[in-house]
Amino acid sequence: MRLRPGFIMGEYMQFHFASAAPNQVRFVARLVNQNDTPDDLDAAAVDGAKAARFAGRTGQVFEHFAMNDGLLARIALAGTGEVDADTRLRNVERAGAALVAKYIASGETDMVLDLGHADLSGEEAAAAIFGARLRSWRFDEYRTKLAADKRVSLTAIHVINAPAGTQEAWARASAVAEGVEFTKHLVTLPANILYPESFVAKCEEAFAGTGAKITVLDEPAMEKLGMGALLGVGQGSVRASRLLAIEWQGGVEGDAPTAFVGKGVTFDTGGISLKPPPGMEDMKWDMGGAGAVAGGMLALVKRKAKANIVAIMGLVENMPDGNAQRPGDVVTTMSGQTVEVLNTDAEGRLVLCDALHWTQETYSPARIVDFATLTGAMIIALGHDHAGVFSNDDALADQLLRAGTSTGDKLWRLPIGPAYDKLIDSPIADIKNVGPRPAGSITAAQFLGRFIKKGTPWAHCDIAGTVWSDKPGPTHEKGATGWGARLIDRMIADNFEG
Ligand code: BES
Ligand code: MN
Ligand code: ZN
Repeated sequence: MRLRPGFIMGEYMQFHFASAAPNQVRFVARLVNQNDTPDDLDAAAVDGAKAARFAGRTGQVFEHFAMNDGLLARIALAGTGEVDADTRLRNVERAGAALVAKYIASGETDMVLDLGHADLSGEEAAAAIFGARLRSWRFDEYRTKLAADKRVSLTAIHVINAPAGTQEAWARASAVAEGVEFTKHLVTLPANILYPESFVAKCEEAFAGTGAKITVLDEPAMEKLGMGALLGVGQGSVRASRLLAIEWQGGVEGDAPTAFVGKGVTFDTGGISLKPPPGMEDMKWDMGGAGAVAGGMLALVKRKAKANIVAIMGLVENMPDGNAQRPGDVVTTMSGQTVEVLNTDAEGRLVLCDALHWTQETYSPARIVDFATLTGAMIIALGHDHAGVFSNDDALADQLLRAGTSTGDKLWRLPIGPAYDKLIDSPIADIKNVGPRPAGSITAAQFLGRFIKKGTPWAHCDIAGTVWSDKPGPTHEKGATGWGARLIDRMIADNFEG
């Protein structure tokens, strides 16, 4: 059975469930728990595993060659760690991912993944497949000269001996994988390809036929609504700005939705407060918040989540030109509050404040969570392992923190509060868009908080350090991590689906 019809962004790994291994198998992989040597291994393999210090620890892979059905076959063992680990599901996921990382460009084309070992539950078996799927994503579309031995060879995984419940769990997990892949894809695309209008087009394609409702505001519509802050950021670019909203009604009709709002700056030069050249290319992923929201929403929609959700993305390009806004300009936001733009590079909060206000006016959401690559200071504070979360509501913050722990899209809470307000009071307008150097991530969050209506639970996730990685991780190649899509899916699944 072919489990995976071609994905809109191209073909990755194909997964097939089979009741028995295909004929003439040359490559079999299986999972092994820590310190649990399989008793059907031949003596040479047992010695070899010991010599290679393979102990079944999470992510370890040991390979040997042995006769299998009369053919010499490559046999790989992937470690899943301890059976009773709290992080069992993620460990198994990492084992599946480690197999793909090792063999994706090995020359092997087909892998038989035998999941009839390691005491896996159906959910755990699906987690192994999920890890394999996530780790197989890569973006080679623009490489026309990739050496033959660097190209992807492994394109099919034949799952055998899957425990009961694997396929049900996989049906759900594969929808989430599609969401993560969509996030990675959007984050990876360069800014000459991905700009506000093409971001919208990608979403229209991804969500076509799903039942999700898409609304797009163009510049005249936003002007009419008074979104002076968002439009001010985009006015120095030849690319027109957009506000994109995707609605999913999977819950009780009339129930207030959960709103996810994303910063979608498709390129951030800094504007007139121009950034220095080194590393500026990173700012193609300054739409990582919108990417997370789009991918998370795709996961929810593809698995038909039983909840009402809206995803709102503020899409602009921040460029310097003769029409660009200047430091010192005062803009009027849709909320009516005025902002003194002291630094045109603090543009994310200008985009989000209008997107957040519009979201509240349009949907009266039960709660709002925004995602944004908002401040370099976030990377100084937390590095690349955790994103920061700021919230006016302890319950909402805890829901996000827990979803982060279980998915690996980890968060760490930082404070906000009225004590920080004086740092962003402006002498000429209601608020200024930058504070002093200290607490740069907090004052950015505090700025956003001024656009949240009293009584609305709200959380802001500053993901500047987590959407891109210079080295490969357990479930991603180097580059886009896909951060956020799983978090969004899990946060809804664990709290808002009955
Ligand atoms: N997009 C950047 C933040 C950023 C920097 C994300 C590095 C990822 C890596 C944001 O728009 C920005 O430029 N923020 C400024 C704010 C400052 C001017 C108050 C920053 O962090 O320097
Ligand atoms: Mn900026
Ligand atoms: Zn930015």
